[in-house]
Amino acid sequence: MTTVRDVRANGGENPITMLTAYDAPTAAIVDEAGVDVILVGDSVGNASLGYETTLPVTVDDLARHVGAVSRATEEALVVADMPFLSYGVEEGESVENAGRMLKEEGAEAVKLETGPHTVSLTETMTQLGIPVMAHLGLTPQHVNQYGGYPRQGTDPDAAERIRELALAHEDAGAFSLVLEHVPSNLAAEVTDALEIPTIGIGAGPDCDGQVLVVDDAVGLSDWSPSFAKRFGDVRGEMESAVEGYVSAVESGEFPGEEHSHEEADLEDIY
Ligand code: KIV
Ligand code: NA
Repeated sequence: MTTVRDVRANGGENPITMLTAYDAPTAAIVDEAGVDVILVGDSVGNASLGYETTLPVTVDDLARHVGAVSRATEEALVVADMPFLSYGVEEGESVENAGRMLKEEGAEAVKLETGPHTVSLTETMTQLGIPVMAHLGLTPQHVNQYGGYPRQGTDPDAAERIRELALAHEDAGAFSLVLEHVPSNLAAEVTDALEIPTIGIGAGPDCDGQVLVVDDAVGLSDWSPSFAKRFGDVRGEMESAVEGYVSAVESGEFPGEEHSHEEADLEDIY
C-alpha cells in the first residue's frame, strides 16, 4: 500500500509515478502495473465526460469516479482532484466537499489547484486529516483568465511567485506538489527548494515524479499536449476492434456456432 507518508518521504532516488484514472477497469490496470499514485483528475471532464474544459465538473461527478477508482485499487494512493469552485470560496464547504472524497468514496488525499487563497485552507485540511497535494504552474481551472493554456513561470517575477507559493504550501502541510507546464529550470529550482516531492507534467525531467493523463499515456485521446507521450495505441486498437465487429455482423460471420447457445426444446410452445 502506498501511503501519503511514503510519497512525502520520497527522496527522489526512485521517481514517483502518477497517472490519472476515472473508472474501475482502468484503475485496476494502472494499479497492477505498479503506478504509485492514481489521480482521479478533474480532467475527467475533457477525457470522459465530453466537456471542452474542466470547469463544468461537479463534486457529484468527481465523487462517482473516485468511488469507482477506489474500489478497483489495491496498492496505489488514490488522490481526488477537487473540482472548480468546490474549494477556496468558503472554508466549511471546501472541507465538506474534500472530506466527502475520503469519508464516502475511498480517496486518501485531495489535490487542489493552489494559489494565495489555498494556503490557510491547506493548513486547515491537513490539521483535520485531509492530506493535500498542491498544484502550481499552469492550473487549468484558470483557463478563462489565461485565455488558453500557456506555459507559466516564464519570467523572473512569475517564477518567484511560484517558488514562494510552493514553499508556503509546504509550510501549510501539503505532502507533495504537482508542477504543470513550467520551464524545466524553474521546476528543478522548486524541487531543490522543497522537502516534499514535486510531480511534474510538462515540467522537465528534474521533478521527483511524473504525472500524465492516462488517456494520453496509453494513446486513447484524439488530442494530447506536446509534453505528453503516447506509450501505446489504445485508440487504434479500439477502432480496429469496433470495425471488426461491424463487418462481422454485417457479413453474417458473427455470431457463429461457437458464440450461440444451444437451441432449447420449444416443441411445447410452438
Ligand atoms: O486533472 C488532471 O488530470 C490533473 C493532472 C494533469 C495533474 O490535474
Ligand atoms: Na486537474
